[in-house]
Amino acid sequence: MAAPAPALSADDADPSFAELLAGRPHLTANAQDGLTIEEVPLARIAAEVGTPTWVYSAGSLRRRFGALRDALRDAALDCEVHFAVKANPNLAVLRTLAREGAGADIVSEGELRLALAAGIVPDHVVFSGVGKTMAELRFAIGQGVGQINAESVEEIAMISAAATALGRTVDVAIRVNPDVDPRTHAKITTGKSENKFGVAMADAPALYASMAQTPGVRPVGIATHIGSQITAGMSAYSTAYRALADLVRTLRAQGLPVERVDCGGGLGIPYRDEPAPSPAALAGAIKATLGNLGVKLMVEPGRWIAGPAGVLLASVILSKRNGSRRFVILDAAMNDLVRPAMYEAWHGILPVSATDLVAPLSPCDIVGPVCETGDTFARNRGLPALEPASLVAFLDAGAYGAAMSSTYNARPLAAEVLVDGARFAVVRERQSLDALLAGQRLPAWYAT
Ligand code: LLP
Repeated sequence: MAAPAPALSADDADPSFAELLAGRPHLTANAQDGLTIEEVPLARIAAEVGTPTWVYSAGSLRRRFGALRDALRDAALDCEVHFAVKANPNLAVLRTLAREGAGADIVSEGELRLALAAGIVPDHVVFSGVGKTMAELRFAIGQGVGQINAESVEEIAMISAAATALGRTVDVAIRVNPDVDPRTHAKITTGKSENKFGVAMADAPALYASMAQTPGVRPVGIATHIGSQITAGMSAYSTAYRALADLVRTLRAQGLPVERVDCGGGLGIPYRDEPAPSPAALAGAIKATLGNLGVKLMVEPGRWIAGPAGVLLASVILSKRNGSRRFVILDAAMNDLVRPAMYEAWHGILPVSATDLVAPLSPCDIVGPVCETGDTFARNRGLPALEPASLVAFLDAGAYGAAMSSTYNARPLAAEVLVDGARFAVVRERQSLDALLAGQRLPAWYAT
Protein backbone atom coordinates (compact mmCIF):
# COMPACT_ATOMS: atom_id res chain seq x y z
CA MET A 1 0.00 0.00 0.00
CA ALA A 2 1.22 3.48 -0.73
CA ALA A 3 0.04 4.76 2.60
CA PRO A 4 -1.85 3.13 5.41
CA ALA A 5 -5.62 3.49 5.39
CA PRO A 6 -6.82 6.69 6.99
CA ALA A 7 -7.57 4.78 10.14
CA LEU A 8 -9.18 6.94 12.75
CA SER A 9 -8.36 6.27 16.35
CA ALA A 10 -11.13 5.37 18.76
CA ASP A 11 -10.48 8.61 20.54
CA ASP A 12 -11.04 11.19 17.82
CA ALA A 13 -8.50 13.49 19.34
CA ASP A 14 -5.69 11.02 18.69
CA PRO A 15 -3.81 11.33 15.41
CA SER A 16 -4.37 8.55 12.86
CA PHE A 17 -1.64 6.06 11.95
CA ALA A 18 -1.15 7.95 8.68
CA GLU A 19 -0.74 11.22 10.52
CA LEU A 20 1.75 9.69 12.92
CA LEU A 21 3.77 8.30 10.02
CA ALA A 22 3.66 11.54 8.07
CA GLY A 23 5.74 13.37 10.65
CA ARG A 24 8.35 10.61 10.92
CA PRO A 25 10.08 10.18 7.57
CA HIS A 26 12.31 7.29 8.67
CA LEU A 27 9.18 5.19 9.26
CA THR A 28 7.06 3.92 6.39
CA ALA A 29 4.38 1.29 5.99
CA ASN A 30 4.00 -0.98 2.98
CA ALA A 31 1.76 -3.89 2.09
CA GLN A 32 4.67 -6.29 1.82
CA ASP A 33 6.62 -5.67 4.98
CA GLY A 34 4.40 -3.60 7.23
CA LEU A 35 6.05 -0.96 9.39
CA THR A 36 9.60 -0.33 8.21
CA ILE A 37 12.38 1.78 9.68
CA GLU A 38 14.66 3.18 6.97
CA GLU A 39 14.87 0.06 4.74
CA VAL A 40 14.47 -2.57 7.44
CA PRO A 41 11.08 -4.08 8.27
CA LEU A 42 10.57 -4.00 12.03
CA ALA A 43 9.18 -7.55 11.84
CA ARG A 44 12.59 -8.72 10.63
CA ILE A 45 14.31 -7.16 13.61
CA ALA A 46 11.78 -8.75 15.96
CA ALA A 47 12.31 -12.15 14.32
CA GLU A 48 16.09 -11.94 14.60
CA VAL A 49 16.57 -10.08 17.88
CA GLY A 50 13.34 -10.73 19.78
CA THR A 51 11.31 -8.22 21.75
CA PRO A 52 11.20 -5.88 23.54
CA THR A 53 13.88 -4.08 21.51
CA TRP A 54 14.80 -0.46 21.06
CA VAL A 55 15.45 0.41 17.42
CA TYR A 56 17.26 3.59 16.38
CA SER A 57 17.52 5.11 12.91
CA ALA A 58 21.04 6.36 12.21
CA GLY A 59 19.70 8.37 9.26
CA SER A 60 17.21 10.14 11.47
CA LEU A 61 19.87 10.89 14.08
CA ARG A 62 22.10 12.39 11.38
CA ARG A 63 19.29 14.36 9.76
CA ARG A 64 18.09 15.79 13.04
CA PHE A 65 21.56 16.70 14.26
CA GLY A 66 22.23 18.31 10.89
CA ALA A 67 18.96 20.25 10.93
CA LEU A 68 19.75 21.70 14.32
CA ARG A 69 23.33 22.57 13.42
CA ASP A 70 22.22 24.12 10.12
CA ALA A 71 19.52 26.23 11.81
CA LEU A 72 22.17 27.67 14.12
CA ARG A 73 24.54 28.24 11.20
CA ASP A 74 21.83 29.84 9.11
CA ALA A 75 21.33 32.34 11.91
CA ALA A 76 25.07 33.03 11.69
CA LEU A 77 25.62 31.87 15.24
CA ASP A 78 28.98 30.59 16.42
CA CYS A 79 27.39 27.71 18.31
CA GLU A 80 28.54 24.22 19.24
CA VAL A 81 26.01 21.41 19.64
CA HIS A 82 26.65 19.18 22.64
CA PHE A 83 24.34 16.16 22.67
CA ALA A 84 22.85 15.55 26.12
CA VAL A 85 24.09 12.00 26.66
CA LYS A 86 21.45 11.32 29.31
CA ALA A 87 18.82 11.22 26.58
CA ASN A 88 20.45 8.25 24.87
CA PRO A 89 23.77 6.91 26.15
CA ASN A 90 24.00 4.08 23.62
CA LEU A 91 27.56 3.96 22.32
CA ALA A 92 26.54 3.49 18.68
CA VAL A 93 24.12 6.41 18.90
CA LEU A 94 26.87 8.56 20.39
CA ARG A 95 29.31 7.47 17.69
CA THR A 96 26.76 8.28 15.00
CA LEU A 97 26.45 11.80 16.38
CA ALA A 98 30.17 12.18 17.08
CA ARG A 99 30.87 11.46 13.41
CA GLU A 100 28.59 14.37 12.55
CA GLY A 101 30.60 16.66 14.80
CA ALA A 102 28.56 16.56 17.99
CA GLY A 103 30.11 17.30 21.34
CA ALA A 104 28.63 15.96 24.56
CA ASP A 105 26.86 17.30 27.60
CA ILE A 106 27.50 14.80 30.40
CA VAL A 107 26.43 14.48 34.03
CA SER A 108 28.44 11.58 35.39
CA GLU A 109 31.71 9.74 35.00
CA GLY A 110 29.80 6.96 33.26
CA GLU A 111 28.48 9.36 30.62
CA LEU A 112 31.95 10.85 30.20
CA ARG A 113 33.45 7.41 29.63
CA LEU A 114 30.76 6.68 27.04
CA ALA A 115 31.30 9.99 25.25
CA LEU A 116 35.05 9.43 25.08
CA ALA A 117 34.58 5.82 23.95
CA ALA A 118 32.30 7.15 21.19
CA GLY A 119 35.15 9.31 19.92
CA ILE A 120 34.09 12.70 21.25
CA VAL A 121 37.19 14.67 22.15
CA PRO A 122 37.35 15.81 25.79
CA ASP A 123 37.52 19.43 24.70
CA HIS A 124 34.00 19.07 23.27
CA VAL A 125 32.57 17.78 26.53
CA VAL A 126 30.70 19.93 29.03
CA PHE A 127 30.22 18.46 32.51
CA SER A 128 26.82 19.54 33.90
CA GLY A 129 24.90 18.44 36.96
CA VAL A 130 23.94 19.63 40.39
CA GLY A 131 25.95 17.09 42.39
CA LYS A 132 29.24 15.99 40.90
CA THR A 133 31.37 13.91 43.27
CA MET A 134 35.04 14.61 43.96
CA ALA A 135 35.94 11.36 42.21
CA GLU A 136 33.97 12.39 39.13
CA LEU A 137 35.50 15.86 39.11
CA ARG A 138 39.02 14.41 39.40
CA PHE A 139 38.36 12.00 36.54
CA ALA A 140 36.82 14.67 34.31
CA ILE A 141 39.58 17.22 34.94
CA GLY A 142 42.22 14.52 34.44
CA GLN A 143 40.66 13.70 31.08
CA GLY A 144 40.72 17.38 30.10
CA VAL A 145 37.01 18.14 29.70
CA GLY A 146 36.37 21.40 27.90
CA GLN A 147 34.12 22.97 30.50
CA ILE A 148 32.50 22.29 33.83
CA ASN A 149 29.18 23.98 34.54
CA ALA A 150 29.23 24.75 38.26
CA GLU A 151 25.96 24.99 40.13
CA SER A 152 26.98 26.31 43.58
CA VAL A 153 29.70 28.02 45.56
CA GLU A 154 30.24 24.72 47.34
CA GLU A 155 30.87 22.99 44.05
CA ILE A 156 33.35 25.61 42.90
CA ALA A 157 35.39 24.83 46.00
CA MET A 158 35.32 21.12 45.09
CA ILE A 159 36.36 21.85 41.49
CA SER A 160 39.22 24.01 42.74
CA ALA A 161 40.39 21.29 45.11
CA ALA A 162 40.22 18.63 42.42
CA ALA A 163 41.99 20.78 39.82
CA THR A 164 44.80 22.01 42.06
CA ALA A 165 45.46 18.47 43.32
CA LEU A 166 46.02 17.52 39.68
CA GLY A 167 48.07 20.65 38.98
CA ARG A 168 45.48 21.73 36.41
CA THR A 169 43.32 24.75 35.66
CA VAL A 170 39.86 23.98 34.34
CA ASP A 171 37.40 26.15 32.42
CA VAL A 172 34.28 26.72 34.49
CA ALA A 173 30.95 28.32 33.66
CA ILE A 174 28.33 29.17 36.26
CA ARG A 175 24.91 27.68 35.68
CA VAL A 176 22.39 30.32 36.60
CA ASN A 177 18.76 29.77 37.50
CA PRO A 178 16.82 32.52 35.72
CA ASP A 179 13.52 31.77 37.51
CA VAL A 180 11.39 31.35 34.39
CA ASP A 181 8.50 28.97 33.81
CA PRO A 182 8.87 27.06 30.54
CA ARG A 183 5.37 25.59 31.01
CA THR A 184 6.38 21.97 30.72
CA HIS A 185 5.79 19.00 33.06
CA ALA A 186 6.62 19.94 36.68
CA LYS A 187 9.07 17.04 36.98
CA ILE A 188 11.23 18.35 34.15
CA THR A 189 11.11 22.08 34.86
CA THR A 190 14.59 23.15 35.94
CA GLY A 191 14.84 26.95 35.70
CA LYS A 192 12.42 28.09 38.39
CA SER A 193 13.75 29.46 41.66
CA GLU A 194 12.17 26.61 43.63
CA ASN A 195 14.16 24.04 41.59
CA LYS A 196 17.48 22.68 42.86
CA PHE A 197 19.43 23.77 39.79
CA GLY A 198 21.94 26.56 39.31
CA VAL A 199 22.65 29.69 41.30
CA ALA A 200 20.27 32.62 41.67
CA MET A 201 20.86 35.40 39.13
CA ALA A 202 21.42 37.87 41.96
CA ASP A 203 24.26 35.77 43.40
CA ALA A 204 25.99 35.17 40.08
CA PRO A 205 28.15 38.33 39.77
CA ALA A 206 29.83 37.92 43.17
CA LEU A 207 30.34 34.22 42.59
CA TYR A 208 31.83 34.84 39.14
CA ALA A 209 34.16 37.46 40.58
CA SER A 210 35.27 35.09 43.32
CA MET A 211 35.97 32.38 40.74
CA ALA A 212 38.50 34.68 39.13
CA GLN A 213 40.45 34.49 42.43
CA THR A 214 40.03 30.73 42.87
CA PRO A 215 43.04 28.53 42.14
CA GLY A 216 42.61 25.86 39.48
CA VAL A 217 39.50 27.56 38.08
CA ARG A 218 39.23 29.79 35.03
CA PRO A 219 35.82 31.48 34.75
CA VAL A 220 34.81 31.30 31.09
CA GLY A 221 31.12 32.04 31.01
CA ILE A 222 27.59 31.28 32.07
CA ALA A 223 25.11 28.52 31.37
CA THR A 224 21.46 27.77 31.87
CA HIS A 225 18.99 24.97 31.19
CA ILE A 226 15.40 25.86 31.94
CA GLY A 227 13.62 22.56 31.38
CA SER A 228 12.81 19.79 28.96
CA GLN A 229 10.08 19.06 26.39
CA ILE A 230 9.45 22.78 25.93
CA THR A 231 6.67 23.19 23.38
CA ALA A 232 4.97 26.36 24.59
CA GLY A 233 6.87 28.68 22.28
CA MET A 234 10.06 30.63 22.72
CA SER A 235 9.03 33.13 25.35
CA ALA A 236 10.56 31.36 28.37
CA TYR A 237 13.78 30.83 26.41
CA SER A 238 13.87 34.47 25.35
CA THR A 239 13.24 35.69 28.89
CA ALA A 240 16.02 33.48 30.23
CA TYR A 241 18.47 34.43 27.48
CA ARG A 242 17.77 38.15 27.95
CA ALA A 243 18.62 37.71 31.63
CA LEU A 244 21.82 35.91 30.62
CA ALA A 245 22.74 38.73 28.24
CA ASP A 246 22.21 41.27 31.02
CA LEU A 247 24.43 39.19 33.27
CA VAL A 248 27.17 39.07 30.63
CA ARG A 249 27.07 42.88 30.41
CA THR A 250 27.13 43.24 34.20
CA LEU A 251 30.12 40.93 34.52
CA ARG A 252 31.99 42.67 31.74
CA ALA A 253 31.26 46.05 33.30
CA GLN A 254 33.07 44.72 36.36
CA GLY A 255 36.05 43.87 34.18
CA LEU A 256 35.37 40.14 34.24
CA PRO A 257 35.89 38.32 30.94
CA VAL A 258 32.96 36.26 29.61
CA GLU A 259 33.81 34.12 26.59
CA ARG A 260 31.02 31.56 26.43
CA VAL A 261 27.28 31.18 26.97
CA ASP A 262 25.74 27.70 27.19
CA CYS A 263 22.05 27.93 26.27
CA GLY A 264 21.05 24.47 27.52
CA GLY A 265 18.65 22.01 25.89
CA GLY A 266 14.95 21.47 26.22
CA LEU A 267 13.57 21.88 22.72
CA GLY A 268 10.34 19.87 22.63
CA ILE A 269 9.04 17.43 20.03
CA PRO A 270 5.47 16.61 18.99
CA TYR A 271 4.71 13.22 20.60
CA ARG A 272 1.04 13.47 19.71
CA ASP A 273 0.17 16.57 17.72
CA GLU A 274 1.53 19.35 19.91
CA PRO A 275 2.77 22.35 17.95
CA ALA A 276 6.48 22.11 18.72
CA PRO A 277 8.99 24.90 18.11
CA SER A 278 11.56 24.45 15.36
CA PRO A 279 15.34 24.66 15.68
CA ALA A 280 15.07 27.83 13.59
CA ALA A 281 12.85 29.37 16.26
CA LEU A 282 15.40 28.47 18.92
CA ALA A 283 18.22 29.86 16.80
CA GLY A 284 16.19 33.05 16.32
CA ALA A 285 15.63 33.44 20.06
CA ILE A 286 19.34 32.93 20.73
CA LYS A 287 20.30 35.34 17.97
CA ALA A 288 17.94 38.06 19.18
CA THR A 289 19.14 37.92 22.77
CA LEU A 290 22.73 36.70 22.78
CA GLY A 291 23.76 37.17 19.16
CA ASN A 292 25.66 40.42 19.56
CA LEU A 293 27.73 39.67 22.62
CA GLY A 294 30.72 38.21 20.81
CA VAL A 295 30.60 35.04 22.88
CA LYS A 296 31.06 31.43 21.85
CA LEU A 297 27.63 29.81 22.13
CA MET A 298 26.62 26.26 22.99
CA VAL A 299 23.40 24.28 23.06
CA GLU A 300 22.84 20.90 24.70
CA PRO A 301 19.80 19.22 23.16
CA GLY A 302 18.96 15.60 23.86
CA ARG A 303 15.35 14.81 23.10
CA TRP A 304 15.04 16.85 19.91
CA ILE A 305 17.87 14.91 18.27
CA ALA A 306 17.27 11.39 19.57
CA GLY A 307 13.60 11.18 20.54
CA PRO A 308 11.94 10.77 17.14
CA ALA A 309 14.83 8.61 15.87
CA GLY A 310 13.91 5.60 17.99
CA VAL A 311 11.06 3.17 18.52
CA LEU A 312 10.43 0.51 21.13
CA LEU A 313 9.36 -2.71 19.46
CA ALA A 314 7.18 -5.00 21.57
CA SER A 315 5.08 -8.15 21.15
CA VAL A 316 1.59 -8.86 22.37
CA ILE A 317 1.56 -11.56 25.05
CA LEU A 318 -2.23 -11.76 25.16
CA SER A 319 -5.36 -9.68 25.03
CA LYS A 320 -8.04 -9.99 27.68
CA ARG A 321 -11.27 -8.36 28.71
CA ASN A 322 -12.24 -7.11 32.13
CA GLY A 323 -15.90 -6.40 31.76
CA SER A 324 -16.21 -4.02 28.87
CA ARG A 325 -12.53 -3.00 28.79
CA ARG A 326 -10.09 -4.56 26.37
CA PHE A 327 -6.54 -4.91 27.67
CA VAL A 328 -3.62 -5.64 25.36
CA ILE A 329 -0.72 -6.97 27.41
CA LEU A 330 2.72 -6.52 25.90
CA ASP A 331 6.11 -7.97 26.66
CA ALA A 332 7.38 -4.40 27.18
CA ALA A 333 6.56 -2.71 30.46
CA MET A 334 7.10 0.39 32.55
CA ASN A 335 10.57 -0.89 33.44
CA ASP A 336 11.44 -0.48 29.74
CA LEU A 337 9.62 2.74 28.84
CA VAL A 338 8.77 4.59 32.04
CA ARG A 339 7.70 7.92 30.52
CA PRO A 340 3.91 7.22 30.47
CA ALA A 341 3.97 6.09 34.13
CA MET A 342 6.30 8.85 35.25
CA TYR A 343 5.14 11.90 33.29
CA GLU A 344 1.73 10.84 31.96
CA ALA A 345 3.49 10.96 28.59
CA TRP A 346 1.66 10.12 25.37
CA HIS A 347 3.55 7.96 22.86
CA GLY A 348 2.22 6.97 19.46
CA ILE A 349 1.68 3.20 19.20
CA LEU A 350 1.57 1.63 15.75
CA PRO A 351 0.87 -1.95 14.80
CA VAL A 352 3.70 -3.44 12.76
CA SER A 353 2.12 -5.99 10.43
CA ALA A 354 0.70 -4.80 7.12
CA THR A 355 -2.69 -6.33 7.93
CA ASP A 356 -2.86 -4.83 11.40
CA LEU A 357 -2.05 -1.41 9.94
CA VAL A 358 -5.29 -1.41 7.96
CA ALA A 359 -7.52 -3.53 10.21
CA PRO A 360 -10.56 -2.03 11.97
CA LEU A 361 -9.80 -0.25 15.21
CA SER A 362 -11.40 -0.44 18.58
CA PRO A 363 -10.42 1.11 21.89
CA CYS A 364 -8.11 -0.73 24.23
CA ASP A 365 -5.73 -0.18 27.10
CA ILE A 366 -2.13 -1.04 26.24
CA VAL A 367 -0.33 -2.32 29.30
CA GLY A 368 2.76 -4.21 30.37
CA PRO A 369 2.97 -7.27 32.60
CA VAL A 370 4.41 -5.44 35.64
CA CYS A 371 2.34 -5.68 38.80
CA GLU A 372 1.26 -2.05 39.02
CA THR A 373 -1.67 -0.24 37.52
CA GLY A 374 0.84 2.47 36.62
CA ASP A 375 2.22 0.00 34.10
CA THR A 376 -0.19 1.41 31.53
CA PHE A 377 1.15 2.83 28.29
CA ALA A 378 -2.13 4.13 26.93
CA ARG A 379 -5.82 4.07 27.73
CA ASN A 380 -8.62 4.00 25.19
CA ARG A 381 -6.23 3.85 22.27
CA GLY A 382 -7.70 2.81 18.93
CA LEU A 383 -5.88 -0.34 17.80
CA PRO A 384 -6.75 -3.47 15.81
CA ALA A 385 -7.50 -6.85 17.38
CA LEU A 386 -3.80 -7.65 18.02
CA GLU A 387 -3.56 -11.40 18.47
CA PRO A 388 -0.79 -12.90 20.64
CA ALA A 389 2.65 -12.39 19.03
CA SER A 390 1.48 -9.35 17.05
CA LEU A 391 4.05 -6.59 17.08
CA VAL A 392 3.62 -2.95 18.01
CA ALA A 393 6.04 -0.03 17.93
CA PHE A 394 6.13 2.84 20.40
CA LEU A 395 7.12 6.01 18.59
CA ASP A 396 9.54 8.70 19.71
CA ALA A 397 11.25 6.36 22.14
CA GLY A 398 14.81 7.30 21.19
CA ALA A 399 15.27 9.74 24.07
CA TYR A 400 14.74 8.91 27.75
CA GLY A 401 13.64 5.42 26.71
CA ALA A 402 16.36 2.81 27.17
CA ALA A 403 18.23 5.45 29.16
CA MET A 404 15.63 5.28 31.94
CA SER A 405 15.01 1.53 31.90
CA SER A 406 15.22 -0.50 35.06
CA THR A 407 15.05 -4.19 35.89
CA TYR A 408 11.92 -3.87 38.03
CA ASN A 409 10.12 -7.20 38.40
CA ALA A 410 13.48 -8.88 37.61
CA ARG A 411 13.01 -8.07 33.95
CA PRO A 412 16.27 -7.90 31.96
CA LEU A 413 17.19 -4.75 30.04
CA ALA A 414 15.97 -4.90 26.44
CA ALA A 415 18.25 -5.14 23.41
CA GLU A 416 19.13 -2.07 21.31
CA VAL A 417 19.50 -2.05 17.53
CA LEU A 418 20.89 0.56 15.16
CA VAL A 419 19.49 0.69 11.63
CA ASP A 420 21.39 2.42 8.84
CA GLY A 421 19.77 2.17 5.42
CA ALA A 422 19.29 -1.52 4.71
CA ARG A 423 21.66 -2.64 7.48
CA PHE A 424 21.02 -3.23 11.12
CA ALA A 425 23.10 -4.34 14.07
CA VAL A 426 22.50 -5.18 17.69
CA VAL A 427 24.31 -2.37 19.49
CA ARG A 428 23.43 -3.52 22.95
CA GLU A 429 22.75 -7.14 23.74
CA ARG A 430 19.62 -8.08 25.57
CA GLN A 431 20.64 -8.53 29.18
CA SER A 432 20.69 -12.22 30.06
CA LEU A 433 18.97 -13.44 33.18
CA ASP A 434 22.38 -14.67 34.36
CA ALA A 435 23.78 -11.14 33.99
CA LEU A 436 20.74 -9.68 35.73
CA LEU A 437 21.23 -11.92 38.75
CA ALA A 438 25.02 -12.05 38.71
CA GLY A 439 25.82 -9.37 41.28
CA GLN A 440 23.65 -10.87 43.99
CA ARG A 441 25.10 -13.04 46.72
CA LEU A 442 24.09 -14.37 50.09
CA PRO A 443 25.91 -13.27 53.23
CA ALA A 444 28.54 -15.72 54.45
CA TRP A 445 26.51 -16.50 57.55
CA TYR A 446 23.81 -18.08 55.35
CA ALA A 447 26.30 -20.63 54.05
CA THR A 448 25.50 -23.25 56.61
N1 LLP B 1 21.17 19.98 29.65
C1 LLP B 1 20.88 19.72 30.93
C2 LLP B 1 21.68 20.36 31.99
C3 LLP B 1 19.81 18.86 31.26
O1 LLP B 1 19.52 18.62 32.53
C4 LLP B 1 19.06 18.27 30.21
C5 LLP B 1 17.95 17.37 30.51
C6 LLP B 1 19.43 18.55 28.88
C7 LLP B 1 20.48 19.43 28.64
C8 LLP B 1 18.73 17.96 27.71
O2 LLP B 1 17.38 18.32 27.66
P1 LLP B 1 16.50 17.93 26.39
O3 LLP B 1 17.03 18.70 25.19
O4 LLP B 1 16.62 16.46 26.19
O5 LLP B 1 15.13 18.33 26.76
N2 LLP B 1 13.39 12.13 31.54
C9 LLP B 1 12.62 13.26 31.10
C10 LLP B 1 13.50 14.39 30.61
C11 LLP B 1 14.54 14.82 31.63
C12 LLP B 1 15.46 15.92 31.14
C13 LLP B 1 16.58 16.13 32.09
N3 LLP B 1 17.54 17.09 31.70
C14 LLP B 1 11.62 12.81 30.04
O6 LLP B 1 11.60 11.63 29.70
O7 LLP B 1 10.82 13.61 29.56
